[in-house]
Amino acid sequence: LTIAWTRSAASIVEALTAPAGRADPFPLYAEAHELGPVSAIADTWFLVSGYAAVDQVLRNPDFGPSPRSPEPRNPDLPSMSRSILWADPPDHGRMRSLMSQVFTPRRVAALRPAIETAVESLLDGLDGDPVDFMDRFAFPLPITVIGEMLGVPPSDRDRFRPLATDLTEALELPALTSRSTAAESAARELGEYFTALIRDRRAHPRDDLVSALVTTDGRLTDDQLLANLILLLVAGFETTTNLLGNGLALLFDHPEVASAIRSGELPAEQFVEEVLRYDSPVQITTRTARTETLTIAGTPIPKGSQVVLLIGAANRDPSRYPDPDRFDPSRRDTKPLSFGAGPHICLGNALARLEAAIAFPRLLTRYPAISPSTPPTRRDRLTLRGHTTLPIHLNGV
Ligand code: HEM
Repeated sequence: LTIAWTRSAASIVEALTAPAGRADPFPLYAEAHELGPVSAIADTWFLVSGYAAVDQVLRNPDFGPSPRSPEPRNPDLPSMSRSILWADPPDHGRMRSLMSQVFTPRRVAALRPAIETAVESLLDGLDGDPVDFMDRFAFPLPITVIGEMLGVPPSDRDRFRPLATDLTEALELPALTSRSTAAESAARELGEYFTALIRDRRAHPRDDLVSALVTTDGRLTDDQLLANLILLLVAGFETTTNLLGNGLALLFDHPEVASAIRSGELPAEQFVEEVLRYDSPVQITTRTARTETLTIAGTPIPKGSQVVLLIGAANRDPSRYPDPDRFDPSRRDTKPLSFGAGPHICLGNALARLEAAIAFPRLLTRYPAISPSTPPTRRDRLTLRGHTTLPIHLNGV
């Protein structure tokens, strides 16, 4: 006789927010799959882990984004809650069409030479043994690229790193955050910076994204413009940093994959998709049921309910990906939900994919003997999954 013991959805959520769960959420995701694609945490609070179910909620505009952080205590501070990420229709559609007009595939593709140059110059600058990959490559690359795109001068980019890191606290589950003074002063400083940049580009437009957005004058309020510029900086920064760090850590665990990328046998794009699936930089997002009579996978969801979408679990749903806990870039039909889906699907997904697909082959050919040094340290966050440090030997041990 075997007695099946399954943990409740409530205790899975509790375990996920504890330090051990943040460090390794994957066994908890497997437990969530045993419960089914959607389960109740409380009367109006649901956990969704199935691939099809998460995809369905993301694509349904009747599930609107839940505000992730309280409004700043000081209403004069710019708040990302006024940005596209937290907007509902009709505001969302208006912002989205404006921002996709300036964030075009053409503009992204045109960044390729700038990304290649940035990658080469960061690789040139690496020295020391060991050297911290996060500090010297994974953090500087995305900030350089988004800085380039926004039109932020190189000399100003360094100060954004700590500010953006403080602000991403807003992306954690509400239970984990209290709006800190660090996040508030980061918001103030970025607000002042972008206000000045907007003023400058109104007077002297250039071929950059800030200029393009300000010339759509009147269609975004000043508050929304500011919120969206700060969002672009924050959303495109640590997420991409973590994709780079998570990917390199996986290459160290799978040297045969590194060889296949180096020889050109495995396209870097295919490797990047599997990294996104296996160790998604964004693990969780949340939604609120805006209307009556919504269901997810047959479960009725009362209006006003909070829905926790486990992106990282959906990416490892055994009914979507056979043997989901195996890292295998040769999988076919890998379509991770790491950039979301539906109306809010990541605006920067092509850019993030391009950066990673350029960076990994260059890194591996430039430093063929690259190897791990002391064990990496994980960032103690649940929503944004990545490393704080990833020490490496550039030329082997
Ligand atoms: C939205 C992930 C890079 C800009 C999102 C969402 C996810 C995501 C999951 C949807 C959130 C939701 O629906 O609740 C990622 C990951 C990245 C990345 C994993 C890197 C690996 C970027 C970059 C940019 C960017 C490079 C821009 C420079 C945005 C914007 C939205 C968004 C503006 C909001 C879109 C909307 O609400 O309509 N991202 N992102 N992201 N992302 Fe990204």
